[in-house]
Amino acid sequence: MNLWHPNNWKNHHTLQQPVYPDENALQDACNELSKLPPLVTPTEIENLKKYLAEASLGKRFILQGGDCSESFADCCAEKITNKLKVLLQMSLILVQGLGMPISRIGRIAGQYAKPRSEDLETLNGVSLPSYRGDLINDAFFSEVGRVPNPQRMLQGYGLSSLTLNYIRALVESGFADLHNPDQWQLPFLTHAKNGVRYHQQASQLLKSIKLLEILSGGPAQNLEKVEFFTSHEALLLHYEAALTRKTTNGWYNLSTHFPWIGMRTGQIESGHVEYIRGIKNPVAIKVGPNMQANQLLKLIDIIDPHREPGKLTLIHRFGISNISDNLPILIKTVQQFGYKPLWICDPMHGNTHATDTGIKTREFKDISQELELALKIHQDNQSILGGVHLELTGEYVTECVGGALELKETDLNTNYRSTVDPRLNAEQALEMAFVIAEMAKFY
Ligand code: PEP
Ligand code: CO
Repeated sequence: MNLWHPNNWKNHHTLQQPVYPDENALQDACNELSKLPPLVTPTEIENLKKYLAEASLGKRFILQGGDCSESFADCCAEKITNKLKVLLQMSLILVQGLGMPISRIGRIAGQYAKPRSEDLETLNGVSLPSYRGDLINDAFFSEVGRVPNPQRMLQGYGLSSLTLNYIRALVESGFADLHNPDQWQLPFLTHAKNGVRYHQQASQLLKSIKLLEILSGGPAQNLEKVEFFTSHEALLLHYEAALTRKTTNGWYNLSTHFPWIGMRTGQIESGHVEYIRGIKNPVAIKVGPNMQANQLLKLIDIIDPHREPGKLTLIHRFGISNISDNLPILIKTVQQFGYKPLWICDPMHGNTHATDTGIKTREFKDISQELELALKIHQDNQSILGGVHLELTGEYVTECVGGALELKETDLNTNYRSTVDPRLNAEQALEMAFVIAEMAKFY
């Protein structure tokens, strides 16, 4: 008998959870949340699981991307549309470069909770709880705002639902139709190098589609609607558990299609692993330099005991200085164990550094170099890299340096908007897709 329950994590040591000052207010918010309708359905989740299984076999490629941390204030039509546009443009570039289907998964509609390395932040001699994402407290440094507030979970649920509703409306009404790739053009990229390159590639694709339709005597099937999936870090377990629902097929987290657990919360006995092992969703774990081979094997046994295709994704995020020493041994260990996970590379989180003036940034070339190393290491070890995980935005921000615009450290203050990690801006994101498409010729 399986006695797993979404709230069993409470009996385990659980890191990165806020301390709510009012237990009753927390319970009220969780009860309210647990009665609200789900955001996604088990059928959608199972479809994604099939795609992830295909990607683990090299028959599909996964593009997972979005903000490091979504903010409540950014839940507006323009920003959502721009994020969707940039992911659609990237997937069009990838589909041509890789010659295989692409599945798009946003870090979106719920990516509101962040792990922090320090519990407290000190400014001018005043120490307050660290900002843990809009789902928990306020980024603004004030005594009131930094107190964890459980009502924020309801607000986060509401804004996730509005975000997803708008994405679904756009997709349903043909926004993602491959016959209209021009409507994904971002206004500020019309004259940018990679914007122009995208435009040329899109026009070429459109010509091919038209030719195919003439030859086949009818409209090409399945081009009108692309599927779009959501993901977020399952960090705040009160929230995740309240949105985990029992179906005839078992328990599903119905707040997102694809939850992952972060590098700081993947300990074997942790509350996060206890939680994630019980849900039917496909799930991911982040694999960083501290992951030992035996720990990884235990995690595989706990999370995917039945070796279900598409169930477990390993998102490695080592950084350029660590990937060559760390990844090969993990690939070999997993292979010797007879296990075939989906491997995805997150080339962002291992390559973060602070400038001399203390601004968190990442170099475009470090990100692309880690991706290239990842492709090579998987190939050298007869393994498959089935996707990429990026922090990006559809806006013109100045958070990562380098890329076609050659952003410098001195440019970072122009439009640095992320409250946590630096993201690729829209042009850098398109360029990264071109870089991956180019690399695919060699791996
Ligand atoms: C993240 O994905 O934003 C994150 C915090 O990643 P990691 O757990 O890999 O550090
Ligand atoms: Co991040």
